[in-house]
Amino acid sequence: MAYGLLKGKRGIISGALDEKSIAWKVALKAKEEGATFTLTNAPVAMRMGAIKELAQHCNAEIIPADATSVDDLTNLFTQSTEILGGKADFVLHSIGMSPNIRKGKAYTDLNYEWFKQSVDISALSFHKMMQTAYKLDAVSEGGSIVALTYMAAQRTFPFYTDMADAKALLESIARSFGYHYGKYRQVRVNTVSQSPTPTTAGGGIGGFDKFYDFANKTAPLGNATADQCADYCITLFSDLTRMVTMQNLFHDGGFSMTGISEEIMALVNKE
Ligand code: NAI
Repeated sequence: MAYGLLKGKRGIISGALDEKSIAWKVALKAKEEGATFTLTNAPVAMRMGAIKELAQHCNAEIIPADATSVDDLTNLFTQSTEILGGKADFVLHSIGMSPNIRKGKAYTDLNYEWFKQSVDISALSFHKMMQTAYKLDAVSEGGSIVALTYMAAQRTFPFYTDMADAKALLESIARSFGYHYGKYRQVRVNTVSQSPTPTTAGGGIGGFDKFYDFANKTAPLGNATADQCADYCITLFSDLTRMVTMQNLFHDGGFSMTGISEEIMALVNKE
């Protein structure tokens, strides 16, 4: 059911790779809620082609941008303002990638060049995005910027390796930039800490299925789906959350606040 929460709002949505992507669901919901927006992803991701279907469905233009390139981001915000006929009211950062995870490197055997890439793509890109928007004054007064994160920033999950450190930095950037953007244009900056979700990025984590199951059996509400994450992002883009900023908001069915569940106890007792 749509509520018209984003009626008349303009936005930029990054990270929709295929129909499993969290950003894909955000785009569908943003459309349903009345927003107009541009879509962006790394030029290499365009080759997969799926984003074109989404763009057609949402009547949105695609602006390729490597989120580690300030030039690409400058072009993204400039073109987006032109296409949408005004500044963005909301921006979604839904970008993450670790070459160390892709190549199965353990945390005690990281390749440092790849580590730098993980941090650049998954965390610094958020700063670059916001600094570019700030300098161009490309986000409207009272706008909302959201990035997606994972709880490995607070608690250790051994297979999350360097992404845990990248997410910790991402969340810190949200707080630090949130202060400055709040003072400058009343713009809110938050991170949403989502449950494990079966997507291309999520599925790349070692032992994802077990990891997913464990979280699902621990959280009293079970794991939050990508669709539900999109719903939450929409509320953060809407005017209903105008005083929420600089927060890391858990969207995980209660997992982060649960020590152990009865289901996990039963499994331990079986051993
Ligand atoms: P996904 O694989 O569908 O999305 C990741 C996106 O990042 C892709 O669209 C990819 O093309 C894009 N990307 C990679 N390098 C880029 C670059 N240099 N420039 C621009 N875009 C680039 O997976 P998902 O799960 O939808 O990931 C979205 C966000 O959600 C990520 O930040 C991820 O860490 C986060 N997240 C995912 C969870 C999961 O279990 N799937 C749990 C918590 C957070």
